[in-house]
Formats: sequence, structure tokens, C-alpha cells
Amino acid sequence: MSKIKKCLFPAAGYGTRFLPATKAIPKEMLPVLTKPLLQYGVEEAIEAGLDTMAIVTGRGKRSIEDHFDISYELEHQIKGTSKESYLTEIRSVINACTFSYTRQVEMRGLGHAILTGETLIGDEAFAVVLADDLCDNDGDGVLSQMVKLYEKYQCCIVAVEEIPPEDSNKYGVIAGDTIKDSTYAKNSLVRVNDMVEKPELQDAPSNLAIIGRYILTPDIFDVLRETQPGKGGEIQITDALLEMAKIGKVIAYKFDGTRFDCGNVDGFVEATNYFYTKSN
Ligand code: UTP
Repeated sequence: MSKIKKCLFPAAGYGTRFLPATKAIPKEMLPVLTKPLLQYGVEEAIEAGLDTMAIVTGRGKRSIEDHFDISYELEHQIKGTSKESYLTEIRSVINACTFSYTRQVEMRGLGHAILTGETLIGDEAFAVVLADDLCDNDGDGVLSQMVKLYEKYQCCIVAVEEIPPEDSNKYGVIAGDTIKDSTYAKNSLVRVNDMVEKPELQDAPSNLAIIGRYILTPDIFDVLRETQPGKGGEIQITDALLEMAKIGKVIAYKFDGTRFDCGNVDGFVEATNYFYTKSN
């Protein structure tokens, strides 16, 4: 069995909910305290044992590449000063993994962004992290929990959490049958048999919503190639995963930990307060 080594970060979106901040700065580079959202995601992937980061970018996203690179001028300037410690974390991130990039030329949705990443992933199972979903857990990180689950079940895995029903139209919502597995908390594993992208409250098949962590098997690319634009005219990963679910190949996992939706201002402020309190 091959281990998961690669993590795909779709980061090409416009981040319109954060305008005007995201006019010239990628949403993924907005900092919670002093660290950009994307760096939290990369650290979570490294903690899960992944060492190859594949980032789907777009126009105006070059600061992402500069962030995960050495700035010789800056290094030279602060070498030997007390400020050097500020760079410790990012240096160890850069040393722990490799980064490769590809551009999504047209923003045709998350499914399309993932398909664009095929060139960096190839024919192996991989993780996907949406960096604007910021996750934290005192034990194993969310991705680490999912990698372990993949090693056991060898199929696509989506992280889910319970949401208030009125929020259904912001998420992909799943339904399915509970898997009994004594290693996991009761009702934390579901064999998915239905999935709806952003349903209205009355059409939601459950209160379990997909958040921005996935493990995908490479056959997803063939399905995505055939997936037609869905909700909002975008190619939806939910629609492709529904095809995989029909043949029993998707598990939804209620993870241990906390998630902040940093794609909107309220979630971003909550995350900032949480990490500030935690760091003091
Ligand atoms: P969002 O739905 O949060 O979209 O995408 P967005 O464009 O970033 O933000 P808003 O809604 O305009 O404020 C979820 C993730 O998928 C990526 C985004 O970068 C984000 O990480 N994405 C989305 C792409 O990479 N390409 C796309 O075409 C769409």
C-alpha cells in the first residue's frame, strides 16, 4: 500500500468576501496572528507525514510562492539579531517539504481547481486542504486523523461536522449509513450514499457538512473530467464525489478538533481570538 505524501491546496479563488483586502493579497495569505492561513494548512499536512505540497494558484497569487521560499535579503538583514527567531517556523516548514505550483487559468470551481492539480499529483492518492478552513486539535491534527483512516479503508474520505440546519446552503451536505468500527467514536464514520451541494434547508439530506479536508483517490480525476458544471455554474467536487459514493467509495469522518471558517469575516475573527488566547 502506498502512503499519502502529497497535499493539494486549491488557492486560486477570488476571495470576494474579503474584498478589498483580497484585491492584491491572496485570501490564503491573510494572517491569523502572524501566520498566513496557508502556512497553518501546510503545517497540518507536514504533521500528517506529507512532504510534497502542490498549490493551485491563479493571477495575483505570487506572494504565495515568495512566502515558501528563502528571502536572502531578509535573512542577511536579521541574521544574528533577536528577530531571527520570528523566522524559525517558516524555515522549518521550507526544510520539511517541497512546493510545486500550477495555475488555474479560469476560476471554474473547486472541482476544476482539483482537476487542474492533476499535473502535480499524478496517479496516487492525495490530500486536499482548503486553507480558509483553519483546523486545530490538541491531539493528532485533522489531516493526520484522516490519513490514518485512509490507511485502513483505502477510499475517498471527506471531513464533516454537524451544522445548524439553516447553514445547509453554505456547504456540501452528505447522507449515508453509519460504519461500525470500534477504533472510532460512535457515529463518527459514515459510508456516504448521497451528497448535495449547498442545499436549501428543506432539501438537506442531513446536518453533516463537508469542510475543507479531503483524501482523494486518483480515479477522482477521471470522474472530474466528465463532471458538468453544477451549482453556481461551477464544476463541483461534491458532484464528482457523489459518483464515487454511488459505488461505495466515500467515507465521511466526524473529526476530532475545532474548525474555523476563515473564508468569512466572523470565522476569521473567531479564529484570531482563539489562537490569541491559546498563545498567551
Ligand atoms: P470559496 O468557495 O471559498 O471561493 O473556495 P473563493 O473564491 O476563495 O472565496 P469567495 O467565496 O469569493 O469569498 C473554496 C476554496 O477553493 C478554491 C479557493 O481558493 C478556496 O481555497 N477555489 C475555488 C479555487 O482554487 N478555484 C476556484 O475556481 C474556486
